[in-house]
Amino acid sequence: MTDAQLNFPPDFIWGTATAAYQIEGAVNEDGRGPSIWDTFSHTPGKTHNGDTGDVACDHYHRWREDIALMRELNLNGYRFSIAWPRILPQGRGAVNQAGLDFYSRLVDGLLEAGITPFVTLYHWDLPQALQDEGEGWLRRGIVDDFAAYTDAVSRALGDRVKHWMTFNEMFVFCVQGYVTGEMAPGTAIMDPGRMTRAAHHALLAHGAAVRVLRANVPGAQVGLVNYLQAVEAASDSPEDQAAAQRYDGFLNRWYLDPVYTGHYPADMLELFGIFGPPVEPGDMEQISVPLDFQGVNFYERSIITAGDELPLLNVRYVRPPAERTAMNWEVYPPALYDVLLRVHRDYRPPAIYITESGAAFDDEIAPDGQVHDERRVAYLRGYFQQAARALADGVPLKGYFVWSLLDNFEWAHGYSKRFGVIYTDYATQRRIIKDSGRYLAAVAAGRG
Ligand code: FCB
Repeated sequence: MTDAQLNFPPDFIWGTATAAYQIEGAVNEDGRGPSIWDTFSHTPGKTHNGDTGDVACDHYHRWREDIALMRELNLNGYRFSIAWPRILPQGRGAVNQAGLDFYSRLVDGLLEAGITPFVTLYHWDLPQALQDEGEGWLRRGIVDDFAAYTDAVSRALGDRVKHWMTFNEMFVFCVQGYVTGEMAPGTAIMDPGRMTRAAHHALLAHGAAVRVLRANVPGAQVGLVNYLQAVEAASDSPEDQAAAQRYDGFLNRWYLDPVYTGHYPADMLELFGIFGPPVEPGDMEQISVPLDFQGVNFYERSIITAGDELPLLNVRYVRPPAERTAMNWEVYPPALYDVLLRVHRDYRPPAIYITESGAAFDDEIAPDGQVHDERRVAYLRGYFQQAARALADGVPLKGYFVWSLLDNFEWAHGYSKRFGVIYTDYATQRRIIKDSGRYLAAVAAGRG
C-alpha cells in the first residue's frame, strides 16, 4: 500500500494529542493547586532522573506559538486535557476563575486557527487534596466531586467545545497508580481489589459526567478514551487461548463491557472473586449511558501464554524478536487494524477516534539543525495505512490524533522519551518540527 492509497474523507480530523501535566509547566501559577503528579514526581526515586512537570514544555506561556505550529502542520483537531487542580485547586469548592480563563483563551485560539478542540477532563492529574481524602479514586464520594468539576468546566467552555472525553485510560491509572505503583499516586499494594474499586468509581464518575455534559453542552459529542491492546494467544492450545482471554478481560473488556453492555465481564468477575468491584443498585445503569464515540489509544499488542508473570491472571508475555521503539514497544501496525475492527464489531460505538497513537525514538538534532526521524515517519505511515484499511472495511473512524504534538514529560520516564512530531529543546524551549511532523502535515493536507 502506498501513500497514494491513504484515503481519508475531507472532514477527517487530523490532530495531535497532549495532556496538561505533560506539557503545561507553570505548576504554581494563577492559583493552581498541587496534583498527585506534583507529589509523585517530587518524591525521590519515582521518575527518571528526578524529572518533574514543573516547567515541562512551558506550554502554559507558549500556547500561542504551539497553536501556530499546529497550523503549520495543517491540523484541524487538537486533543488536550484540562488540569483539574487549575479549576478546583482543592479538588472541590470554589472555582478558580484564572484556571478556567487559561483554557478559555486556548479554546478561542484554536477556533480562530480553524482547529477543533477535543477536551479530556481527566488525564491523571488528580488534585492532591482528593488523594489525601480516602485515597482518591478509592473513595466513592469522588464521583460527586468529578461531576461538580465537569459542571464547572463545561459551563465555561461548552458554548465552544463540543467534543468531550471524560477519562483517559482508566486501565493504566487504576493498575499502575493503585496496585503496581509505577505511576501517581504510586501506592504499590498488590491487592487487585484496589484496581477494581478505583475503576468502579471512575466508571461511575464517567457516567455522571456524561449526564452533566449532555445537560450543559448543546450538541455535545461525548466519549471515553481507553488504552486498548490487540491480545493474541501464543498458540491454539486451550491453555493459551484461555490465558489470552483472561488478559483481554483484564486489560480491554473490564473497561468496555460495563460501558457498552451494562455488565462487568462474567469470566473476570469469577476470576477476581472477592476482589470484585463494589457495585450498588443502579450503578451499572449509571455507567452504561450511551456515548457518541469511543476513543482508542493504541500502542501495543500482547502475545500471551499461560504462565506466572502476572499473579491471579496466570499469564506470561511472549516477546518475539521485532522492531521496537525506545519504550521497547513492538512496531506492528496490523494490530491497530485488529483493535479498531474489534471495537467496532463487539461494541458498535457510533463513531471511533484514534485518540493516541505514536512512538518514542531517540531523536537528535542533526548538523543541519533539523530532526530526521525517519523511523517515526515509517511508523506513522504504517499505522496510517492500517487506519485507512479499517475505514475502508466499515469502521466509523472519524479522526486520528498522533501522540504527541511535542516531546514532553513522559510520566515516570521523565524527559528521556521523545514522542513528539515536534522536537522540544528543553534548555531553550525552542521547538523544531521533525521530519515526521512534515510528513503528518502532508497527510493532513490530503497530499499523502
Ligand atoms: C499513554 C498516555 C499518554 C502518553 C502515552 C505515551 O498511555 O495516555 O499520556 O504517556 O501513553
